[in-house]
Amino acid sequence: MNRKIAIIGCGNLGCAIAQGLIDGGMPASHLIATRRNLQAIEALRAQGVTTMTDNVKAVEGADLVLLAVKPYNVERIVKEINPALHNDHLLISAATGIGINEIRQIASSTPAVFRAMPNTAADVKESLTCICHDGADEAYVNDVLALFDKIGRTIVIDEKLMEAATVLGACGIAYVLRFIRGMIQGGIEIGFDAGTASAIVSQTVKGAAELLIARGQHPEHEIDKVTTPRGCTITGLNEMEHNGFSSSLIRGIMASYQKIEK
Ligand SMILES: NC(=O)c1ccc[n+]([C@@H]2O[C@H](COP(=O)([O-])OP(=O)(O)OC[C@H]3O[C@@H](n4cnc5c(N)ncnc54)[C@H](OP(=O)(O)O)[C@@H]3O)[C@@H](O)[C@H]2O)c1
Repeated sequence: MNRKIAIIGCGNLGCAIAQGLIDGGMPASHLIATRRNLQAIEALRAQGVTTMTDNVKAVEGADLVLLAVKPYNVERIVKEINPALHNDHLLISAATGIGINEIRQIASSTPAVFRAMPNTAADVKESLTCICHDGADEAYVNDVLALFDKIGRTIVIDEKLMEAATVLGACGIAYVLRFIRGMIQGGIEIGFDAGTASAIVSQTVKGAAELLIARGQHPEHEIDKVTTPRGCTITGLNEMEHNGFSSSLIRGIMASYQKIEK
């Protein structure tokens, strides 16, 4: 994919995507990043990304426009860039909760509007990005898949599942990190210093995820392998369940989803 990409609103997510794309082999010169505080994206500029505050100029210099601003800024910014959008532009919005139809109402000349829900692991090319569209041409879909595949794995879903994707994939990063933090705290209680506990837990979590990804197994299949009858693993696991481990995760996911749906 040789298109020039403008990332409009290069904050946490935009920077993670830009860095992941560069690390994934995209020339930094293909990227334009905007925000008002340019000092905050100096690290991208130093790598060769064009940085600017002018969203319209950024769109004029790009083929693909990625909106990474907060949802409450989307309407204003789409109105601002709309005169610069032409019928070859691909528009992708990463904003939570803003439907393709809402964007289309303003950006009517753009042939393809996508929504994308990546996560901040884009920074290390390990994002899971859910994308959806409203019947875009296959060539456009392939372009968008090729873009997000550079920063991890990509799944095409129905737009009605985008809010669920936000919770499971984007908020999911925070849930998993809080789980990791809890394990580190437990590790310190049983004798490790924080650095060693963190190294053990992070690699263990990565290994557990890799087992599922590589083997395509259900988690319980792998759990059965490490739970000896009357052993320490099953004793610990059951104690966690008595304290609402799985239930608390499910309830947290439901609470995030209900909040997003409001
Ligand atoms: N963070 C995540 O994990 C994640 C995951 C998936 C989707 N999202 C979605 O991605 C979007 C961005 O999230 P985020 O966490 O990256 O937020 P963020 O860090 O606040 O980034 C948004 C950026 O937009 C910039 N901005 C505001 N007004 C602007 C304007 N008029 N022109 C150009 N830039 C402007 C802000 O920088 P200045 O103040 O310097 O202008 C800010 O850095 C949200 O819609 C969110 O729902 C986030």
